[in-house]
Amino acid sequence: MPELQTVVHGASELVVGPDDEGSLQAYEDGALAVVDGDVAAVGRTSDLLAEYPAENADTDIDASGQTVIPGFVDPHTHALFAGDRSDEFAQKLRGKPYQEILAEGGGILRTVEAVREASDDELVANLTAQLDAMLAHGTTTAEVKTGYGLDTETELRMLDAVETAAADHPVDVVGTFLGAHAVPDGRDTEDYVDEVVAEQIPAAADHGAAEFCDVFCEEGVFTIEQSRRILEAGREHGLTPKIHAEEFTRLGSAQLAADLNAASADHLLHANREDAEALADADVTPVLLPGTAFSLGEDYADPEQFAAAGAPVALATDLNPNCYSQSMGFAVALACNGMRMAPADALLGATAHAATAIDREDGTGTLREGTAADLVVVDGPSYVHVPYNFGVNSAETVLKDGSVVAS
Ligand code: NIG
Ligand code: FE
Repeated sequence: MPELQTVVHGASELVVGPDDEGSLQAYEDGALAVVDGDVAAVGRTSDLLAEYPAENADTDIDASGQTVIPGFVDPHTHALFAGDRSDEFAQKLRGKPYQEILAEGGGILRTVEAVREASDDELVANLTAQLDAMLAHGTTTAEVKTGYGLDTETELRMLDAVETAAADHPVDVVGTFLGAHAVPDGRDTEDYVDEVVAEQIPAAADHGAAEFCDVFCEEGVFTIEQSRRILEAGREHGLTPKIHAEEFTRLGSAQLAADLNAASADHLLHANREDAEALADADVTPVLLPGTAFSLGEDYADPEQFAAAGAPVALATDLNPNCYSQSMGFAVALACNGMRMAPADALLGATAHAATAIDREDGTGTLREGTAADLVVVDGPSYVHVPYNFGVNSAETVLKDGSVVAS
């Protein structure tokens, strides 16, 4: 008889994931049993405890009055950085545009300087601290981008840090190479794109810690043609495309994502219905980042046009020095209050749909027999409490592979 690792029972509500129609499926009075890190059974408490008695489990969690949801999946973060840009916050509040700060050598370029100066150990410590905070807020799988090195040596050091921090951390980390995050100070853009294509991408692919290649396709940063070149080169080296698309201007980057069958197109503040349909037809997951719009004071993206086109709308924190939040719960709250998403859709966006944005369609972000037992016990009687009770951490207990990793 395999060892019964954990039983969670008595939950007011236990969220499983999307049903066949794509609606959120949940059990009332829910319970879940874990064997060898995976969900062995999920259902109603009375049925489940008959087969998996809680007293036989190494860990027995009474979730009465609480809610169990799949661990959050955060599919877009720049969680590895150094330095502090809190002074830019006040500038932004006084009305200085993000792109102006960047054009003056601030923003991303300031973080690049700080990352280049940081030691390898500091980079690992910084990322570990961010992952700790994400985990405490219920994130069990997260994507982490490079993009604050902007030269081969530092981009590879960032990949080293991602690999080292991830090896010792409960959060499952998915690496993305983002050498084309900005044009380094004093460099000609075409010349830098040549370097990314000829040098950085082959080196990053060789390194092994990145699975995706991303580009900041934006007016004044990388054009559609340059982005295409970079993402095609990435694909040739085995890195799946992702793209920062239609964030400040509508350039055609969503259409490019569709053309290239990218895993995701992210931001999309200025995408229109045609873009949404192109993404849906090409199976590209739209990733919306309400925290970014919130922190920039921009209008929110419109989730409805993507949902209407039939795309699974995903949510992410976009954790970075310009959007400093590790909390997927907060992203869910903003998606509801700012983008008028239904709580059920926002929760799917932060779990199962987010998993599609990082090509984890193996049950990540769901709780069904056979999936990893990555889950959050939420302090509240329904999943609606995640966005309803905003501004607090509603993750009471976090389990990764069936073991308590934060509480
Ligand atoms: O996704 N838009 C580009 N990149 C980040 C911002 C990174 C930064 O400001 O350091 C984003 O919002
Ligand atoms: Fe980003």
